[in-house]
Amino acid sequence: MTDQAIKTADTSDRAAKKLFIKTYGCQMNVYDSQRMAEAMAVEGYVLTEDQNDADMVLLNTCHIREKAAEKLYSDLGRLKPLKAERPDLKIGVAGCVAQAEGEEITRRMPVVDLVVGPQAYHRLPAMVRGEAPNIVTDFPEEDKFEHLPERRATRRAPAAFLTVQEGCDKFCAFCVVPYTRGAEVSRPVERIMREARDLVARGVREITLLGQNVNGWHGVGEDGREWGFGRLIRALGDIDGMDRIRYTTSHPNDMADDLISAHRDVPQLMPYLHLPVQSGSDRILKAMNRKHTAEQYLRLIDRIRNARPDIMLTSDFIVGFPGETDADHQDTLRLVAEVNFGTAFSFKYSPRPGTPAYDRPEVDSKVADDRLQELQALLTKQQRAAQEGMIGRTLGVLFEKAGRIEGQMVGKSDYLHSVFVEAPNVQIGDLVQVRIIGSARNSLHGELVA
Ligand code: 5AD
Ligand code: SF4
Repeated sequence: MTDQAIKTADTSDRAAKKLFIKTYGCQMNVYDSQRMAEAMAVEGYVLTEDQNDADMVLLNTCHIREKAAEKLYSDLGRLKPLKAERPDLKIGVAGCVAQAEGEEITRRMPVVDLVVGPQAYHRLPAMVRGEAPNIVTDFPEEDKFEHLPERRATRRAPAAFLTVQEGCDKFCAFCVVPYTRGAEVSRPVERIMREARDLVARGVREITLLGQNVNGWHGVGEDGREWGFGRLIRALGDIDGMDRIRYTTSHPNDMADDLISAHRDVPQLMPYLHLPVQSGSDRILKAMNRKHTAEQYLRLIDRIRNARPDIMLTSDFIVGFPGETDADHQDTLRLVAEVNFGTAFSFKYSPRPGTPAYDRPEVDSKVADDRLQELQALLTKQQRAAQEGMIGRTLGVLFEKAGRIEGQMVGKSDYLHSVFVEAPNVQIGDLVQVRIIGSARNSLHGELVA
């Protein structure tokens, strides 16, 4: 469908226009930014890393916490002088702030020309040409990815993202995602398989499957049967040249048996799982509408570790959720101590307009700060122990870039740690056995195994 358009762009003699994209927030935004860049390439835009040199600046935004959303407005403020100097500079706002705030953005910041929500990216080229409204935030029936150009015929970095599922129907009481990204939608098997095969053919060896609730993915398989996410992973593992599979982000209630056993059966599925729990208190989990207890989460972890004993677990936590008492906080610390996470993200609760928890009485800000510090100290200790536990082990490392020091290369281990290795003869894209010999704050040091 879009091959034609790509050819037109490739043979175009128009002087290339330059597009600068800034991506905030999650990996789904990173993937979306790539796809928007590909759509704009068809229009003759090439990417630039220099905002001052751009014909168009696109800010792909995040609305998950207030701080993330406010960043957009401070960045737009900083763009004002550039736009005053060059009035033909186009400024676009994409992503979840665009979805949530729509025309409020252009009202507050008249420098903005275009506002496009996450489900409408396929309309971006028409918007830029002036053939579509300049604010599009509807949830169309069609799959945006079907209307975006296919990923371009270039060799790619060895690790890539692939969105398989979008949106969320879980409605956790704190979370904007069901409103900004919409209802849960799974991309069809054949499109995922096609994109995955295509990525592998272009040199990709590791694919991270993305979705707000990725393990809720389901579809009709190539055999005509209903497939769950575990089955999809098995099919992807069968692709020749697919060396590593990861996925994020998951909900505990969607960890189906078949997905758990895929962690035992599929060698390409990396021993790493991000499984947010948010709190260790049943009372708070209930108030958050998480629909599981702390005990259920712990037993689930047991089952996952039974299937894959060396799996590394990571999580997200929110502290200071409305109604959280010190006893609730202690429950969270206890859960963390029991699971022993490889690393985890913890956030102070941020009330988001439109969510069920928005109007609930807030925990004292200083109390929440103290709890966050206490939780982070424990999580940092666990992270350090997990990293130090890698020392002496030999792990596969997929090399992604050169390090700052001459002859040094940087890659990712099975457990997603960055590993620095003196390896002048190793190429980007090599997957090599490395002995871990040291641990720094957020990375490991290794040496090639002879
Ligand atoms: N306040 C603080 N943290 C939040 N998250 C989502 N919504 C909020 C909020 N309103 C966190 C959750 C989620 C992660 C992506 O962001 O921990 O898992
Ligand atoms: Fe948000 Fe995740 Fe809850 Fe969905 S499951 S509402 S994305 S926190």
